[in-house]
Amino acid sequence: MTYMTTVTELLQPVEVDLENLLLDLRNLIGAGHPILQAAAEHLFSAGGKRIRPGIVLLISRALLLDTELSVKHRKLAQITEMIHTASLVHDDVVDDASTRRGVPTVHNTFDNRVAVLAGDFLFAQASWHLANLNNLEVVKLLSKVIMDLAEGEIKQGLYKFDPSQTLNTYLKKSYCKTASLMANSCKAAGVLSLINEHEVNSLYHFGKQLGLAFQVVDDILDFTSDDKQLGKPAFSDLASGYLTAPALFALEENNLLKSLINREFNQPGDLEQALDIVKSSNAIKNSRQLAENFAKESSEAIHWLPESPSQKALLKLPEYVLSRLY
Ligand code: IPE
Ligand code: IPE
Ligand code: MG
Ligand code: MG
Repeated sequence: MTYMTTVTELLQPVEVDLENLLLDLRNLIGAGHPILQAAAEHLFSAGGKRIRPGIVLLISRALLLDTELSVKHRKLAQITEMIHTASLVHDDVVDDASTRRGVPTVHNTFDNRVAVLAGDFLFAQASWHLANLNNLEVVKLLSKVIMDLAEGEIKQGLYKFDPSQTLNTYLKKSYCKTASLMANSCKAAGVLSLINEHEVNSLYHFGKQLGLAFQVVDDILDFTSDDKQLGKPAFSDLASGYLTAPALFALEENNLLKSLINREFNQPGDLEQALDIVKSSNAIKNSRQLAENFAKESSEAIHWLPESPSQKALLKLPEYVLSRLY
């Protein structure tokens, strides 16, 4: 397999659309209280990879071919990034994370109350703009995502330091926190383009499998990368008791890891030992295999798209997600 270079290169067919997105997002957020506005804008200005709106725009262009994107397609991309950013603001409060997108988190810059309200503000704004698309099916798809995000955070909290959880529990949580947004925003782009039900469902499948691959890769990177590369704290999942794919695979091989997790790393050196166990086992390799399987299923789902620069970029996206590991 050959691996993609950068996300910018990959999103090239929608580069101009994405440049306008940040400007539009700022206008959309518009007239809130200055503190909420400052908090919301804090993360938008820091950037981020903009993969989710990029996918929505690529799908829209791949379906419309020579026809120009409608305002609704563009709004959907903006709403997708708003929902994603809101989920990050709340996720960082839950995890008490210090950095995001290479800058201090919102709760770190302001405080927890402001961050909770700023996240709510973004979710509410997203809902309002969603309703204004005047498409009930799309409203249903994206409001379910907001429910899933909250459920995902709850699920994750309930299974903290629980070594008896299964890979399936982890995947359900990952669907809620990550894949649901990708799946449903892809599907919504299809709904707005008036394609048939079979095609709409395959877009959902594309986004779902891509999202699961994306989360497994993010969870591997938490073990193998560093703060600077990630723009957010590394080695934090296991320390917080979040047992992601690498930890769950390592648990199948190693009983000592189970006792370290059961006592919540309360003895000096426990966490370091646990990290070593995960890294020296087959866990990273097995997790990579899992991500590769999801990525493969993701690209298979959209083989019916007509040939175009956007279609080519979409087919390469799963490969790009995996390439973040190398
Ligand atoms: C972070 O998503 C949250 C996960 C699903 C792992 P991204 O890695 O896409 O974050 P940004 O938007 O580029 O900052
Ligand atoms: C990703 O979950 C999805 C959301 C933030 C909703 P993570 O908890 O893995 O995200 P990071 O690692 O904090 O970016
Ligand atoms: Mg997190
Ligand atoms: Mg993570």
